[in-house]
Amino acid sequence: MERTLSIIKPDGVAKNVIGDVIKRFETNGIKIAAIKMIHLTKTQAQGFYAVHKDRPFFDSLTDFMTSGPIVVMILEGDDVIAKNRELMGATNFKEAAEGTIRKAYATDIEKNVVHGSDAPETAAFEIGYFFNDLEIQKR
Ligand code: CMP
Repeated sequence: MERTLSIIKPDGVAKNVIGDVIKRFETNGIKIAAIKMIHLTKTQAQGFYAVHKDRPFFDSLTDFMTSGPIVVMILEGDDVIAKNRELMGATNFKEAAEGTIRKAYATDIEKNVVHGSDAPETAAFEIGYFFNDLEIQKR
């Protein structure tokens, strides 16, 4: 059993696709172990994406991530990090496969609807960034 962090970004929330994204998780055997809607401050977004702080898109990305509410979830299941990344599709929506979330809804390399942790270490950091132990369902 593995856990990963999923975010429905401000563009996904604005497009009213929260339900569709969650349905894709649930119909693919993924369980939601925690969920909340929040509106990040610039400092909080910078902390979350600190690994990208030297990238040219950092300022624009953290502005975008604070432009509206986001939905943050912990997903749980076998091989869920890879499974979630498969359901999301490539970061660049132009390369996203048919049937993926980003192929369906992303409009831009930045406004790509969802985020998912890319490895167990990043999942642990990202889960801890948003959730404390009391907020996570134990099975
Ligand atoms: P995400 O998976 O959340 O990880 C970093 C985010 O930076 C990415 O999705 C995009 O929203 C954003 N981004 C903007 N430009 C780029 C880029 N050139 N390469 C990768 N990510 C980018």
